[in-house]
Amino acid sequence: MYLRNSHTVAATLLIAISPATASRPCTQFSPSPVPVQHLSAYFLPQYGLHATALLDIEAIRHTLALYPYIIDGRDFPSLSSVFTADAIANYSVPIGVVNGLSAIESTLGAALASFLGTQHLLGSQSVRICDRNSAISVSYYRAVHFLPQNKTTGPGDVVTGDAVLYAYGQYQDSWEKRHGRWKINYRNLVYMVGDAWDPVS
Ligand SMILES: *[C@@H]1O[C@H](CO)[C@@H](O)[C@H](O)[C@H]1NC(C)=O
Ligand SMILES: *[C@@H]1O[C@H](CO)[C@@H](O)[C@H](O)[C@H]1NC(C)=O
Repeated sequence: MYLRNSHTVAATLLIAISPATASRPCTQFSPSPVPVQHLSAYFLPQYGLHATALLDIEAIRHTLALYPYIIDGRDFPSLSSVFTADAIANYSVPIGVVNGLSAIESTLGAALASFLGTQHLLGSQSVRICDRNSAISVSYYRAVHFLPQNKTTGPGDVVTGDAVLYAYGQYQDSWEKRHGRWKINYRNLVYMVGDAWDPVS
């Protein structure tokens, strides 16, 4: 009876970490960015998830939600809650590949310094638990960058034309759980318009 229960527990754990149908393996999600038409094959619905996996997914979503607050609030030291110390982030052209948390902090600080403000808005989002200590996620984002030439006079002012830059893209993130905390250890920022955008590559 005890053995049978152990097997049931083992089977439940297996279901928890295996996608319901054939998915592309998590190990192929990084370091190279994934073309948009392959994303669905990485994030097929996972059925029969163990409660622990649900808690992990919620912790990852919560951590993803911190990123815009930190970036838009210019609170770069708090990126240590989002990225591992040895994280690598490919921010695409013109920034390129950035190695390590402190380089990510200073690079983003410099890249955003010329804007009056920004708003990074996360949209469609999928999280997949790969095993006990690793996961992958994709988040669509749209980021508004307010340029200095048209200064706003107060909250809610509409800024138009040359005064804003929009960025359209995805964050493709690989996660590790260390010391009970989920953090990104590899990020690909993939733009969805402009020269870098090639939906059929
Ligand atoms: C970085 O991202 C860009 C844009 O997605 C991609 O073209 C490039 O190959 C990536 N670089 C590496 C080293 O993965
Ligand atoms: C915004 O700035 C541009 C020049 O960069 C100017 O032509 C335009 O009139 C400005 N708009 C407003 C509402 O001030």
